[in-house]
Amino acid sequence: MGMLNDDMKKLLAECRLTYVATVTPDGRPNLSPKASTKVLDDNHLVFVDIASPNTIRNLKANPYIEVNVVDNLRRRGYRFKGVAEVLTEGELYKTVAEDFWTREGRQYPANGIVTIRIEQALPLWSPAYTFNRGVREEDVRRLYLQRYGLQDLTPADGRENASNVNRAKANA
Ligand SMILES: Cc1cc2nc3c(=O)[nH]c(=O)nc-3n(C[C@H](O)[C@H](O)[C@H](O)COP(=O)(O)O)c2cc1C
Repeated sequence: MGMLNDDMKKLLAECRLTYVATVTPDGRPNLSPKASTKVLDDNHLVFVDIASPNTIRNLKANPYIEVNVVDNLRRRGYRFKGVAEVLTEGELYKTVAEDFWTREGRQYPANGIVTIRIEQALPLWSPAYTFNRGVREEDVRRLYLQRYGLQDLTPADGRENASNVNRAKANA
């Protein structure tokens, strides 16, 4: 079995925006967002180097990397720790770059791609869950839709009710 399960793949596909941590040559943290991140296979992620000179410089000296993704409404996500490889040519580079250009448009450069072999995949849970035993994901989502003043465009599935939303609100 691979490192990436169905829930991880779904959350990455839905959220897209990841935060990528590398280490600078003098040992300092370097964190930057990457919205091109996607699943390559059951053990690998990939993102496109559009404008990430520091991340690329860091990885060339030290390939260790951490990628975080969080669903901002569901208040949960994953952190992936692994080893990166920077590719600027070859079949895989071409496939990923073409897919990116098809999705985002040719105006963006694909200076390279960064593949990440995942060594560890850990769940991230907001305190909205860990301090509220039994609270449901849908209730947390509804609460944060309310908090952010967003309209719920998801069709009602009948699984949620006001008392659960209030419970999440009282404890979040
Ligand atoms: C929402 C968002 C998504 C981004 N996605 C990417 C991306 O997929 N690839 C990339 O190279 N830069 C992306 N960027 C730009 C880099 O994060 C930005 O240029 C950053 O300064 C690069 O820093 P670094 O060299 O330390 O990685 C994104 C920025 C934002 C705000």
